[in-house]
Amino acid sequence: MIPKNTVDTILETARVEEVIGDFITLKKRGANLLGLCPFHGEKTPSFTVSPAKNIYKCFGCGKAGSPVNFIMDQLTLSYPEALKWLAKKYGIEVVEKELTIEEKEAQTERESMYIVMSFSQRYFSKQMNETDEGRSVGLGYFLQRQIPIGLIDKFGLGYSLENRRQFTDDAIQAGYKPKYLVSTGMCILSNAYVEGEEIKANHIFDRYAGRVMFPIHDVGGRVVGFGGRTLSNDKKVAKYINSPETDIYNKSKVLYGLWFAKSAIQKNDKCFLVEGYMDVIAMHQAGFENVVASSGTSLTVEQIKAIHRYTTNVVVLYDGDEAGQKASARAIPMLLEEGMNVRLLYFPNNDDPDSYYRKVTHDEFTEYVNSKTEDFLYYTAKKLNEDSSGDPIKKASVIKTIVSSIALIPDNIIRSIYVKECARIMEIDEPVLLAETNKIRVSAKKQAAKNTDSETVQPATEGNEVTYEEPMQDEPASVFEAEEKELLRLLLAYGNAYVTIEAEDENLEKFDLEITLGEYIFFELMRDSIKFENPIYSEIYEEYVNELSQQRLPNLTHFSNHPNPLISSFVVNHVHSNYELSSKWKLYGVLVPNEIQLLKKLTQSTLFSYKARKLNVLINESNELLKINSHDKVEIILKELTTLNTMKQRVNKLLGRVVIK
Ligand code: CTP
Ligand code: MN
Repeated sequence: MIPKNTVDTILETARVEEVIGDFITLKKRGANLLGLCPFHGEKTPSFTVSPAKNIYKCFGCGKAGSPVNFIMDQLTLSYPEALKWLAKKYGIEVVEKELTIEEKEAQTERESMYIVMSFSQRYFSKQMNETDEGRSVGLGYFLQRQIPIGLIDKFGLGYSLENRRQFTDDAIQAGYKPKYLVSTGMCILSNAYVEGEEIKANHIFDRYAGRVMFPIHDVGGRVVGFGGRTLSNDKKVAKYINSPETDIYNKSKVLYGLWFAKSAIQKNDKCFLVEGYMDVIAMHQAGFENVVASSGTSLTVEQIKAIHRYTTNVVVLYDGDEAGQKASARAIPMLLEEGMNVRLLYFPNNDDPDSYYRKVTHDEFTEYVNSKTEDFLYYTAKKLNEDSSGDPIKKASVIKTIVSSIALIPDNIIRSIYVKECARIMEIDEPVLLAETNKIRVSAKKQAAKNTDSETVQPATEGNEVTYEEPMQDEPASVFEAEEKELLRLLLAYGNAYVTIEAEDENLEKFDLEITLGEYIFFELMRDSIKFENPIYSEIYEEYVNELSQQRLPNLTHFSNHPNPLISSFVVNHVHSNYELSSKWKLYGVLVPNEIQLLKKLTQSTLFSYKARKLNVLINESNELLKINSHDKVEIILKELTTLNTMKQRVNKLLGRVVIK
């Protein structure tokens, strides 16, 4: 761990123009510097560096951030790695935080495991290239599957000899402890081992004997696991044996191929998702390097999030066979729910990307991949429509199917575009499709609210389960968006400024309370258990609150240097740039009383209109429920509506009071 104050020193020292100047040529243009963007190919410079704000922004591709973000992107480094890189450039000494004995032990254990994995990868590769068995069996296998030597090397492929003690003996001979050979999953404990005793050489044997080896890299490029493929066609033998989950291999987080793909994913703003190791390699061979596989597990939410760091566009290339269809039926809803744009590519005759690549010419394959992908929802709508044409009953069930997918999309605008297009494709009325979609979303939200009710603060109305989360159709998301954005801007730019608010003590006596604007916004939102709609805003807000709860005053630099590029670019684009607009406000801490008053009013009016909108949503939702519910529920809903309307009047009154001229 890099200590906090060293991190601060690094962030304060690193000058954006110097850091970026190491990689591209910058020319002075007024107060800023201009150059050719390193992240997208361009001929006229639109990459702007602002020394005054210590940030960069490309007006071509939109990439923006701080010096750390630049290094992370440019050198594909993790956040701590980028910090260390900068420290080195500026001669800042990084003395990593003293760890506790337990932490130290855990760290050395993990370090030892990484070392074992790196040794194993080199070992299997050497065995494949330098032994007779390796060359004829292992290398022969890959060559027969037409994988070029260049890719065999790039992916670090190898071979584990058939002798079940070969690897074990050689690893021990080379000085690796049996304990780590077991904890990494490279070796298996035999019956000779008795629980509790120290693991010795004669207790263990090879896990992968007689298999070709696919090393699995983590996102930083370290080998953390292996997939071993059998060369036998015997159906009784498992086709692949994979590393078990270990302290360094978290299977639900790691994606096969991500290490080799991440810059290509960023560059193409698209990620191909395939099923197997060989498919990843074949795609590279075909010239598509932006490809990953979930490898050995079904796709997880964490893996999707790992892809989401680089792009929101995913093309699913699963096999057409039964297993492949099942896998995509599981993966696609998860991808939609994460807000990904999902496209599909089917290969004919149950081929997978690898087998199809071997059947057709290189150009035919590229052409196929480039032209045959279909938007998942449009494709499904089209297909369902064809299947059900002329059959009204079938059509009704078909609508339910498509609607259940559309309802998963978190972004309101994107969702409404799909509703519109799918209605057109299926030749049904848009309002019908919309109403069905909203019905599903409302009931899903109610379910979610029920499940989390006990953990969250109750909304201001009593005895109902409504949450302030879901805008309905006549609440344009963009309006919500504007207020959420404004609140975050106020929070991040002026959150540390002190404002005086009126509060009540236990005896309901009013008194003046001085708190930070950040705390004020927090209390106001918490009071009505309001959550931000936009996932990124929500993440920023949660982190802000988390910092507050640890008695830290989060500052703007914290967020503009954030490891998550979506967060740092939001801050750079919307908070930094708006400083200029409100130039009569100086940075917090030096606001004159008038300005503080203005700031408080602006915050209040934003909060109130935000709440008013949330209320509108709830009222619409209840009205909607009234239409679809049976009589016994109507009374409850009506009561809820009355409460909501009263609240709305109150908020509107307040809103009127604080409108700034
Ligand atoms: N898989 C696995 N264990 C198995 C079978 C499959 O972990 N017993 C995983 C592997 O990551 C494999 C992927 O699921 O790459 C897809 O399986 P499959 O389609 O059966 O294999 P292919 O990748 O097509 O492998 P090959 O082309 O070598 O037959
Ligand atoms: Mn295959």
